[in-house]
Amino acid sequence: MSVGQPTWVLASDIDNTLTGARAALRALVTELAALRRAGKLFLALSTGRRLGQVLAGVDEEDLPQSDAVISQVGTEIYLPPFKESMAPLPAWERRLRRSFSRQQALTFLQGIDGLQMQPEMYNTPLKVSAFLDQAPRPEAAVKAIRQRIKEAGAAGSYQVIWSSGRDLDIIPAAAGKGNAIRFLLDHLQLEPQMVIVAGDSGNDRSMFEMFEHGIIVANAQPELRALRQNGRSTHYMARRPSAAGVREGLRHFGVLDS
Ligand code: GLC
Ligand code: MG
Repeated sequence: MSVGQPTWVLASDIDNTLTGARAALRALVTELAALRRAGKLFLALSTGRRLGQVLAGVDEEDLPQSDAVISQVGTEIYLPPFKESMAPLPAWERRLRRSFSRQQALTFLQGIDGLQMQPEMYNTPLKVSAFLDQAPRPEAAVKAIRQRIKEAGAAGSYQVIWSSGRDLDIIPAAAGKGNAIRFLLDHLQLEPQMVIVAGDSGNDRSMFEMFEHGIIVANAQPELRALRQNGRSTHYMARRPSAAGVREGLRHFGVLDS
């Protein structure tokens, strides 16, 4: 980044938002790099992946270099220079630890039929993640888990995120991609003219709820499309999928020339 404020902050999800259309992704990466070099763009990757998988993706999947990485569904924030072994931003971690107990979060999942825990690397002190696609009625299971949290009087401490008909995350109420971006803007004292978010699934929802300029790619999951159908018309619904849709949205918002 050069000195001064960027005109735009783009916070983009990775999987099925940037990935999935390799040629379009390559074109987008070139465009984003030029904007960053000119000091006009601050790029944050905002993802469910862990940091190591983001960094590997830059090498192996043509993902763009970024100015920040928000990983594990907004429970960890990293700033450059990135290294796989680095610790997440302590100020964010401290804030999230205040009212989250992994042990209590696990009690909300007890006895849910068909639930399978995700691999250990996706289960961290601040994120409990499971698969629900083998549950007889996944949506009803999500509802039941939310109800248990409410009944425990813990709705102020935990949030449940449901994505892609498969992934269930319990994270601190103060976490999530939207809250993490807000924190990052404050932390770095960024005051761009516009924050633009981009995503495709349930764990991206909080970004669209918090920021008014969003790009929903054409291949988005129903839980994200619903935002637009609910009358929130400030977001841009791309006609094209993945990176092609992100490029289309960036043209719509005037970041890229049309
Ligand atoms: C990513 C994470 C996974 C999470 C999912 C939805 O795939 O690896 O743990 O459940 O995003 O948020
Ligand atoms: Mg995604």
